[in-house]
Amino acid sequence: MLERIDVTVASKHYPIYIGKDLLNQSHLIIQHLSARQIMIVTNSSVAPYYLSKLQAQLHDYQCDTLILPDGEAYKTLETLATIFTHLIEHRHHRDTTLIALGGGVIGDLTGFAAACYMRGVDYLQIPTTLLAQVDAAIGGKTAVNHPQAKNLIGAFYQPNAVIIDVTTLSSLPEREFKAGLAEVIKYGLIADATFFNWLELHIDNILARDPATLTHLIKVCCQIKANLVAQDERDKGLRRLLNLGHTFAHALETGLGYGCYLHGEAVAVGLCLAAEVSQLLSNFPYSDILRIKQLIAKIGLPIALPNTLSIKQLLSLMTNDKKAKLSNLTLILLKSIGLAYCEHNVDYQWLYNYLKCK
Ligand SMILES: NC(=O)c1ccc[n+]([C@@H]2O[C@H](COP(=O)([O-])OP(=O)(O)OC[C@H]3O[C@@H](n4cnc5c(N)ncnc54)[C@H](O)[C@@H]3O)[C@@H](O)[C@H]2O)c1
Repeated sequence: MLERIDVTVASKHYPIYIGKDLLNQSHLIIQHLSARQIMIVTNSSVAPYYLSKLQAQLHDYQCDTLILPDGEAYKTLETLATIFTHLIEHRHHRDTTLIALGGGVIGDLTGFAAACYMRGVDYLQIPTTLLAQVDAAIGGKTAVNHPQAKNLIGAFYQPNAVIIDVTTLSSLPEREFKAGLAEVIKYGLIADATFFNWLELHIDNILARDPATLTHLIKVCCQIKANLVAQDERDKGLRRLLNLGHTFAHALETGLGYGCYLHGEAVAVGLCLAAEVSQLLSNFPYSDILRIKQLIAKIGLPIALPNTLSIKQLLSLMTNDKKAKLSNLTLILLKSIGLAYCEHNVDYQWLYNYLKCK
């Protein structure tokens, strides 16, 4: 079954298609191409699985391909220059279309290249990780990293369409799949209690990667993200609710060193901490903290801070986080499952004492 969600922002209206074997459905892709030139950007891990399948749908086009090395380490200005060089060498015009085939790294790079090349060309997102399918490919945030900070250089630039083939998740490594589920749980927590209940009930089918179950799961997440993006494209208000657990997670990733925890694993711990702080600051029920921890633990994601990082280190990294302000922190917290809010002025010393004693 083919599902469709629409994203509407001031600059654009575009569809997200979700379903099984969509890479075989050429019309879905072709209807969003503006001319006969295309460049597929992918990486060395994803290409062996899906590149030829995609190319087979595009045989009537000038279809160039760029296969980048795999990894966050390549989400840089240097790689961006490689994409531009490839486009110039293959004489791509203003009406070319770039296609991002891969996870969030490929999506962010390709989207930013599309935003810049000839002052903006079209692009499609074909995300192949769970994280990219429920989050990174939607909403038009594109970026590369600077040696001093992640995602610092980028643009808001929406794709022409997002094509989510849930079948691609069958080759995703187990750890990456589970890490993506932390972001899925986050959507239930911030905006949809019914979806959270559904996750609890269907967790076995989800972990078995049943395509129909995944199609529903991804559809709900995309709808929630599309609603938030429609109301706040530039991330100035409501869209920040998507950062639930992330201030803790970013500090954890930095403190432990990148590569120790996957982003989703750090988010899982961050969600548990945010729920615990919510219990004290907004009467979030203790029984719901237990539900969150049970679901996260069932997936096999961490639910507590590792003892290799002190509370002091964690909090000092949190106040350096770009979302934090001096000694007081702004945190996204929960009033109930399905209802997140922004809590300003969480006192640093209070939080330190709380985390230290718990
Ligand atoms: N733009 C946004 O709104 C947004 C939101 C969240 C995250 N991000 C960015 O996304 C990136 C993380 O994305 P990610 O978690 O997808 O990481 P990733 O792109 O590095 O992919 C994870 C790993 O899975 C491999 N892979 C991808 N698809 C596969 C498949 N179907 N089968 C087998 N292997 C596959 C990749 O090659 C990689 O090794 C970060 O750079 C982050 O900053 C962006």
